[in-house]
Amino acid sequence: MEILRTIDSVRQWVRAQRAAGRPIHFVPTMGYFHEGHLSLMRRARADGGAVIVSIFVNPLQFGPREDLERYPRDFERDRQMAESVGVEAIFYPEVAEMYPAGYQTEVRVKELSKPLCGRSRPGHFEGVATVVLKLFNIVAPDRAYFGMKDYQQLRIIQQLVRDMNLSIEIVPCPIVREADGLAMSSRNVYLTPEERTAATVLYRSLQWAQAQYAAGERDAAQLRAGVARQIAAEPLARIDYVEVVDAETLQPIERIERPAVAALAVFFGKARLIDNCLLGD
Ligand code: PAF
Repeated sequence: MEILRTIDSVRQWVRAQRAAGRPIHFVPTMGYFHEGHLSLMRRARADGGAVIVSIFVNPLQFGPREDLERYPRDFERDRQMAESVGVEAIFYPEVAEMYPAGYQTEVRVKELSKPLCGRSRPGHFEGVATVVLKLFNIVAPDRAYFGMKDYQQLRIIQQLVRDMNLSIEIVPCPIVREADGLAMSSRNVYLTPEERTAATVLYRSLQWAQAQYAAGERDAAQLRAGVARQIAAEPLARIDYVEVVDAETLQPIERIERPAVAALAVFFGKARLIDNCLLGD
């Protein structure tokens, strides 16, 4: 497997793959892999391309009081895990390679960046959209794979691709969960054993919402209140937001008449966890 530290080396590698007639399948990540990441890599491989993964903890998407410094990192572990699922190259740049001195440009997907996580993490999605557009320009993939746990991020990237006329197919991939339902996340390492147990309330409350929806409930406020009530009853949980929004626009809705998403962000100690479920197709 190739470890590529520079933009030029990525471009060379991509040219060689293309010359051999292989499509480029790309999995952008911030590293510290878990099964969720590996599921994206396996899917990228199963779809029959040359698989390249990026590992870059992007400073632009962290707020001043967020966890940039302590975000978990272990390149050697990541390298081995990626190799075990058939990844052929890792783009692992330094910050200065991505944002050299004098760097100025930022990208903003206006409306989709405002609600949900956009409210409590100002500037976060500008950081995400900027780095993803840069990575897309560097790698020029045919397909890129994103997990649905970061549902708002996925919608923003789909919109970015559409608005910027990029010929990249965005492949959304299902949330991967631990046996007890907790969505896999690199940030789960921040949880104490007590918080880890308490955090299972998130998936239970989302399952409750799905069951209510399946039984015919279409009142978004009822579903939202039910999810929030269950989480609030957990003493170690501190709700950032719980919302039921339109699955395409991410705007709040009163009744579910089109596909919707129940989305939440909840603090357990130092960890801010997000999760969601679709209501409707
Ligand atoms: O989801 C992530 O890991 C990051 O937000 C991404 C898409 C790699 C951009 O830094």
